[in-house]
Amino acid sequence: METEAALEFVRAEVLAKTGKPLSDIEAVVLEGAWNGKTYEEMAVSSGYAVNSLKNDAGPRFWKTLSLHVFGEKVSKANLRAVLDRQTAQRGVAISPNVSQHPSAIAPMRSRTTSRIDWGEAPNLGVFYGRIAELEALQFQIMAQKSQLIAVLGLRGIGKTTLSVKLVETLQTQSDQFEQVIWRSLFHDPPPALHDLLADLLKSLSGQVKLNLPATTDERLSLLVEQLQKHRCLVILDSFKSLMQAHLLAGQYKRGYEEYGELLKRIGMEHHQSCLVLTSQDCPQEVVELEAQQFPVKTLAINGLALQDAKQILLAKGLSDETYWETLIDIFQSNPLALQLVSAKIQRSFGGQVSSFLKQKTITTRHIVDLIDQQFQSLSTLEKEITYWLAVSPFPLSFADLRNHIPISGAVLLDALESLLQRSLIQGEAEFTLEPIVRQYVLNEFNKEALDSDLPNAGVSIQKLLERCYESNER
Ligand SMILES: Nc1ncnc2c1ncn2[C@@H]1O[C@H](COP(=O)(O)OP(=O)(O)O)[C@@H](O)[C@H]1O
Ligand SMILES: [Mg+2]
Repeated sequence: METEAALEFVRAEVLAKTGKPLSDIEAVVLEGAWNGKTYEEMAVSSGYAVNSLKNDAGPRFWKTLSLHVFGEKVSKANLRAVLDRQTAQRGVAISPNVSQHPSAIAPMRSRTTSRIDWGEAPNLGVFYGRIAELEALQFQIMAQKSQLIAVLGLRGIGKTTLSVKLVETLQTQSDQFEQVIWRSLFHDPPPALHDLLADLLKSLSGQVKLNLPATTDERLSLLVEQLQKHRCLVILDSFKSLMQAHLLAGQYKRGYEEYGELLKRIGMEHHQSCLVLTSQDCPQEVVELEAQQFPVKTLAINGLALQDAKQILLAKGLSDETYWETLIDIFQSNPLALQLVSAKIQRSFGGQVSSFLKQKTITTRHIVDLIDQQFQSLSTLEKEITYWLAVSPFPLSFADLRNHIPISGAVLLDALESLLQRSLIQGEAEFTLEPIVRQYVLNEFNKEALDSDLPNAGVSIQKLLERCYESNER
């Protein structure tokens, strides 16, 4: 009954937006995903080959729904959340019993007002959408009692902004936290843990002059003690600032390794508080604690929903609305990229998106600006993997990559996981680059191919070149 309604809703939307009815295999994927089945289970009940469901029909269907039907990222994992939201927006009820979120995050009766120490948090200007992300965060914080949450995503995707909005939202919806502290680690150099702990302890105590323990360890113990006694929310923005470039993801700069201890203690020990960090790379401790089922969670942030991304272009006064979707698509709904490119279009093209879209080179440069820093800090092996994924017209499995890159499986796997931790690639059994990253890498590849400065990857790059030339000639 519920499933029927969901199928009907999607069927109608797909037909309206693409002009094509849902195919049988798409209906199988939709029904299966809605009911939480694995692709293997779908194969058994439908008779379709698991391979075509998992590697062909499935990914294509999610892409169609994301790009052409709902204007936001839809996957097997978030289908229910997307449909719940989309139907709610249109006033259709399809799953009255599934979503635990609304009741779980219902406002609590006011107890006390939280004391908020904003630190250097940026002012929230306009803020569009992110309803699902805010709900998910509130669900994790309040209902699931997560003690450590990593908000992850590419630069400019809106992590910092979301973390500020989270504090505001929690403030208006409930007074569960006695105290909230927002801190940015984006400093050169970033604060040593020793100093950050002093800052947090002072803020928690409300005293500027406080007799603090001498050692970092003791300070950490005191912090955990405070988090046990009082329900506090601590936000640490830009955790990436602590990470070392040119190593695999999640490894600290020298002198900052103690932050790992902070995460472990907050994730593992009993207390009633929560630490939310935002980062481009997921710290290794978070990966491990989440896998070990501690109350630790990662939340990946993708681009804005289509209608919210359009708001940015509208606010920037762009014209040619028919081309907006193309522009948003190129920049993967990344709000920072859209702001930058809109300003450029306004300056150089009088706000005309169509004129801008003819200038392919400018499109590339903006993507370069956005990804450059993160890409250049990758390890050589990670870069090499991204090159293979960029030139491949289809997703590559671990085995495919091993065929291309003659290196030990364990080392390759570490690098692959590192790229996942950095939000640069997506997939489970088979991997692709985030589209915006793919455009960047292809562009980089053209440059590097000329002055090949990837020493260890030289041989493979040669092969890549040959392959590129081959496909160009076809
Ligand atoms: N939901 C949103 N609505 C409107 N603007 C947003 C939103 N999210 C991000 N932005 C804008 O995009 C830019 C980048 O966001 P930011 O939070 O700094 O990204 P990140 O921390 O992921 O690098 C900022 O200028 C911010 O104002
Ligand atoms: Mg940020």
